Amino acid sequence: MRIRRLSADHLESCVALSLDRGWSPDRDKWAMLFDVAEVYGAVEDGKLVGTTVSTGFDDDLVAVSMVLVATAHGGRGIGRALVQHAVERAGTVPMTLYATDAGRPLYEKFDFRVTGHVTTHVGPWRSAGPRTTRFTADGDVPAVLEIDAAVHAVDRTSVLARFAAITEHRRVAEVDGVITGYGCTWHNGETTIVGPVCAADEATARALIADLAEDSAGPVRLDVDHRHPALARWAVEHGLTARGATAIMTRGQVPSGDRDRLFLPIMQALF
Ligand SMILES: CC(C)(COP(=O)(O)OP(=O)(O)OC[C@H]1O[C@@H](n2cnc3c(N)ncnc32)[C@H](O)[C@@H]1OP(=O)(O)O)[C@@H](O)C(=O)NCCC(=O)NCCS
Repeated sequence: MRIRRLSADHLESCVALSLDRGWSPDRDKWAMLFDVAEVYGAVEDGKLVGTTVSTGFDDDLVAVSMVLVATAHGGRGIGRALVQHAVERAGTVPMTLYATDAGRPLYEKFDFRVTGHVTTHVGPWRSAGPRTTRFTADGDVPAVLEIDAAVHAVDRTSVLARFAAITEHRRVAEVDGVITGYGCTWHNGETTIVGPVCAADEATARALIADLAEDSAGPVRLDVDHRHPALARWAVEHGLTARGATAIMTRGQVPSGDRDRLFLPIMQALF
């Protein structure tokens, strides 16, 4: 088995790995990650048997994702080798990831520690009333980037630019001409994922989420950060069901942005 950098030519093999582990195919997400991140594969006899993705934000942070090993090849040290490879490549740069229960013991071996949680809420959205936010215009981009940078404490400009290509809707909240929050939706199969949502306060986040959810057809998914328990209750009141929780794990001193203003992450493959 050897670990090598993959190109977008391997997209379908990556999708097959996702499906093998019962994840959704995530074709759009994989395509985006090939553009903004380094995708590595564990290859054995010419066959892709595992993946890991590292998205770097200058020398400030690396977000690790898509740690997947084909079911038939599990328990043979491939996952460990992939995470070790990601850790070695990151060097002294702090790292973050969202860990499934299956992945968590593996990350703990590499000194990742749990620093938070999100709970995934899914279901048909029950209408909440008239729209109070508006669709994003080109002129809003600087304000959106400013909020995003304050919340995350790293520059996500290029990632957000590529992410825009897979979004369905983008909205901002505005008070007296000042942008106080922004949010987006994108698709994971039939499910509309609402995220990211960054806002000055929870009321603004709720307004963005309600409008974005109402813009969407079919089930919606919110990965609610545990810093906002009232938001989780509100999501349930509006028809969603809490599924599993996912741990946020970090390694080293990650940049500390104003995380209280992060209500829903962009996607678990990033941060
Ligand atoms: C998690 C996953 C990547 C592990 O891959 P793997 O190749 O089977 O793992 P390895 O064989 O390298 O085992 C890695 C280490 O973690 C340990 N480990 C793995 N799963 C474990 C579990 N559920 N509980 C306790 N320890 C576990 C192993 O004992 C091993 O420890 P060791 O190296 O000290 O012996 C794989 O199970 C997988 O793809 N799961 C589905 C997708 C997923 O949840 N990925 C994580 C996303 S955050």
